Amino acid sequence: MLELLKIIHLAALMAGAATGIGNGLLMSRIMASNGPPPDMVRGFMKTMGKSGLIAMVALWLSGIGMAFVAHDGLMLGSMFYLKVAGASLALICVVMNGRLAGAAEAAGVPPPLEKMKHLANLTWIGVITAVVFGVVRFS
Ligand code: HEM
Repeated sequence: MLELLKIIHLAALMAGAATGIGNGLLMSRIMASNGPPPDMVRGFMKTMGKSGLIAMVALWLSGIGMAFVAHDGLMLGSMFYLKVAGASLALICVVMNGRLAGAAEAAGVPPPLEKMKHLANLTWIGVITAVVFGVVRFS
């Protein structure tokens, strides 16, 4: 069971990172072009954003599962709490970015890319923090 959960955990990390890098690069290109993104690109970014959120939820579910299967719960010490703080920051930023994109679409205006890029950078800080403290705590 632990092996299966760990495979899901690492596969979700890979999928989340891939969508994050892809969307980040697209955002930089769109901002450099100084124009609103074409519809196709906007649709692609929306799909990538949703995939990133699914990956983040899979990380949380598999992580909580591993904590209970292999470590008797979530009271796993300060290094683990720092890892969870990073994971929480990443989750909050991904959710906020989804909401910003959704609100812009509903209002029929271009997405606030500057703000979304800042949130994407914060997501990275959270993910790297979760990886570093995950490795420090568990290897
Ligand atoms: C952005 C989110 C996350 C990332 C990037 C991440 C990354 C990682 C990585 C790279 C490992 C492997 C560490 C190693 O074996 O050396 C790991 C293990 C682990 N993670 Fe996460 N994680 C995230 C979220 C979470 C969450 C939210 C929880 C639980 C609340 C969690 C619980 C665990 C546990 C329990 C292990 C150790 C499993 C074991 O080998 O016994 N993770 N994580």
